[in-house]
Amino acid sequence: MRTRAAVLHEAPGKWSVEEVVLDKPQEGEILVEMVATGLCHSDDHIATGDMPAAHLPIVAGHEGAGIVKELGPGVTGLEVGDHVLTSFIPACGQCRWCACGMQNLCDRGALIMLGHQLDGTFRMHTSDGRDIGTAGLLGTFAEFQVFDQQSVVKIEKDIPLEIACLVACGVQTGFGSASEAGAVKPGDTVLVVGVGGIGINAVQGARAAGAAHIIAADPVAQKKQWALEFGATESHDSVSASMERIRHLTNGQGADVVILCPGVVTNDLLGEAYQAVRKAGTLVVTGIGRESEEAIIPGLNANALALPQKRIQGALYGMKSPREAMPMLLDLYRAGKLLLDDLVTATYSLDQINQGFEDMRNGRNIRGVIHFAQ
Ligand SMILES: NC(=O)c1ccc[n+]([C@@H]2O[C@H](COP(=O)([O-])OP(=O)(O)OC[C@H]3O[C@@H](n4cnc5c(N)ncnc54)[C@H](O)[C@@H]3O)[C@@H](O)[C@H]2O)c1
Ligand SMILES: [Zn+2]
Ligand SMILES: [Zn+2]
Repeated sequence: MRTRAAVLHEAPGKWSVEEVVLDKPQEGEILVEMVATGLCHSDDHIATGDMPAAHLPIVAGHEGAGIVKELGPGVTGLEVGDHVLTSFIPACGQCRWCACGMQNLCDRGALIMLGHQLDGTFRMHTSDGRDIGTAGLLGTFAEFQVFDQQSVVKIEKDIPLEIACLVACGVQTGFGSASEAGAVKPGDTVLVVGVGGIGINAVQGARAAGAAHIIAADPVAQKKQWALEFGATESHDSVSASMERIRHLTNGQGADVVILCPGVVTNDLLGEAYQAVRKAGTLVVTGIGRESEEAIIPGLNANALALPQKRIQGALYGMKSPREAMPMLLDLYRAGKLLLDDLVTATYSLDQINQGFEDMRNGRNIRGVIHFAQ
């Protein structure tokens, strides 16, 4: 069939919305009509080249929600008409990590930046016959897309897909960065660095975990205001501008948990965030940096790590399994304990995708969301 998709032909580059050719779903795959997809900074990292794609051209997008339209052979547990969210890590169900409830580390996650399907071939092609890769084994910036059944999570139909899509990356990643990776406890003082689509949900996760003080650090005034509406107890322009208050609140010790989720993580910011953590506290590194960044953290040597007994915790997908976390987060929303609607601060048509990313870089949105019917 023919469909329309936002294709990246070169990095750095812009998204080109064009007609493409999409094959039928193969063994274990499904055809999905996309309804909505959020714009996450990780997609921008592909367009800027911070996170190099192994195959160009490529269609990115991973915070997607849609409706199953066709089943390939061998698909089980899904039917035409089902509502699904996309998972940028597939769930094979067989590997060590899937077996022990760490599906976000499924061994098949090693394949997500290669661009092809699990069997090594491509389903999407340019109109002149070149293979188009898909990021995260997904590529939700397309009106229709073919996914492996391992890459989707079936959900109930009561929550509009335009809202539910946020759970597919930003909400799970941010919330879990606080609840799992930071293991925030009642009474904790938590610093969230960068309150965009991920960080604002780290604020929500810290609130749900009972943190006493949730400090948001972000240079954008509107982000600081939004953070307060989502549960932050105060907000400041930067890590350094937050330190006086954190010292005051913690008897000079530092934050129990610092969650790092700005758009681009630099080594300088890593070093600064590490200094903000108290003895035996945790620095959660969720944000992504440039692949080209040197592998050093200024100010961090063995003594600086060993003696204060601090923990640096990397976090992929909020350290939560998508098939467990996404339905759980939707339940929290139904119970009124998680805000989703107000996370969407602008909607775009697929044709407006470059505007959506520009607005993200300029700090105008918590989340911009593409509505395919728009
Ligand atoms: N680990 C994972 O599984 C995972 C998943 C999704 C996204 N990410 C990464 O998380 C990061 C955040 O993504 P997002 O979609 O929320 O981005 P975003 O652009 O929506 O938000 C980033 C925020 O950081 C703020 N910021 C920029 N520089 C800052 C600084 N020096 N100090 C404090 N705040 C600063 C911006 O003003 C903005 O509000 C990105 O690097 C993204 O790639 C990681
Ligand atoms: Zn994302
Ligand atoms: Zn697995």
